[in-house]
Amino acid sequence: MGKIIRAELYICNMAKVTISHIKADIGSLPGHTTVYEPVVAEVRRYVKEHSGSILSDFYISHIGDDIQITMIHDRGIDSEEVHRIAWDAFKAGTAVAKSVGLYGAGQDLLKDAFSGNIKGMGPGVAEMEITPRKSEPFLVYMMDKTEPGAFNYPIYKMFADPFNTPGLVIDPNMHEGFTFEIWDIIAGKKIYLSTPENIYDLLAMIGSKSKYVIKRVYTKSSHEKLPDENVAVITTDKLSFIAGEYVGKDDPAAVVRIQSGLPASGEAMEAFSHPFLVSGWMRGSFNGPLMPVGMKDSKMTRFDGPPRVVGLGFVLKDGKLTGPVDMFDDPAFDGARRKAGEITEYIRRMGPFEPHRLPDEEMEYTTLPKVLDKFKDQFEMIESSIKKKKNLVSTKDTD
Ligand code: F6R
Ligand code: MG
Ligand code: MG
Repeated sequence: MGKIIRAELYICNMAKVTISHIKADIGSLPGHTTVYEPVVAEVRRYVKEHSGSILSDFYISHIGDDIQITMIHDRGIDSEEVHRIAWDAFKAGTAVAKSVGLYGAGQDLLKDAFSGNIKGMGPGVAEMEITPRKSEPFLVYMMDKTEPGAFNYPIYKMFADPFNTPGLVIDPNMHEGFTFEIWDIIAGKKIYLSTPENIYDLLAMIGSKSKYVIKRVYTKSSHEKLPDENVAVITTDKLSFIAGEYVGKDDPAAVVRIQSGLPASGEAMEAFSHPFLVSGWMRGSFNGPLMPVGMKDSKMTRFDGPPRVVGLGFVLKDGKLTGPVDMFDDPAFDGARRKAGEITEYIRRMGPFEPHRLPDEEMEYTTLPKVLDKFKDQFEMIESSIKKKKNLVSTKDTD
């Protein structure tokens, strides 16, 4: 914790920049499949016209049915003005979505009026205030049809696994490891764990990806180039907790700074070369492989998936973005895509059975409990039902 506080002091003395990434599903075509270009265009128009002196730059993108706004500014995290731009842009986009009858128009905007902070209102938020380097390269990862815990595996690989990231062994600045901020999203608590010392404890938590999620990663104070800085942030919003009922999975996004004492671009990308299993997919109720794709393949057609990840690569200088590069649009990821296709074939044969379908406790947040509710009074205690049957048999015998 002391180290984190020092980070804030350090950053205070420097010119700060904030990257705010805010995303929402505000309607899709034909059903949870993909965004509609005129809606994306309206969100872009709104942000452009209202960015004024607040945003120094922004970029609008999408994956599947989610529109994503990356904003650059100097107002720090949780800025009311910045959040308001995103909220109002999503409202403007929703009006277009409604006008053509898009499915689920305005779906993730769970509250009627903006009240100063977009957190807890439906959209997913990942923000970090940084001290920009001479060249500030970073990646934005966007996933659809899965949940924030889906980032646990690749973020761990990038920042803590030397078999993925040889920089942890080779680069003296990475050799000291990183500090992970873990959120227990059920209890609403957080903890800081340092790697490599606490790797086993970290894994003991983040393997339970629907409960413990990596929220942020920081460098340590021993980092010569970038001490005590936030270098990765992930959206951790829980739509079902906010809405009180199932309104779709909280398709997550992450911002990851790279190079020069951080994971190299290729090390950050390598974490997605194995299509690991994530929860979500059809009706937010199934496990399936995460397929890395280029923007052209970012639409969810087969069984509303399979879950996908897109990566956009930027550099930031004087508040201005250059890029993006469509990072997974590379034949080097064809093998991962093919394997994800094979896993899809295999696991789909299981239909509604676990472990393709999620375990019972995770189905609690879907529409399944509504189906089972009508049987709740028809269940009998097994012991008493055996006795009842015995009684019936003995009555028959005496007849
Ligand atoms: C998953 C998702 C979709 C929907 C499915 C049913 O996150 O958004 O798989 O759950 O298409 O949608 P409804 O219930 O709206 O017909
Ligand atoms: Mg959706
Ligand atoms: Mg989505």
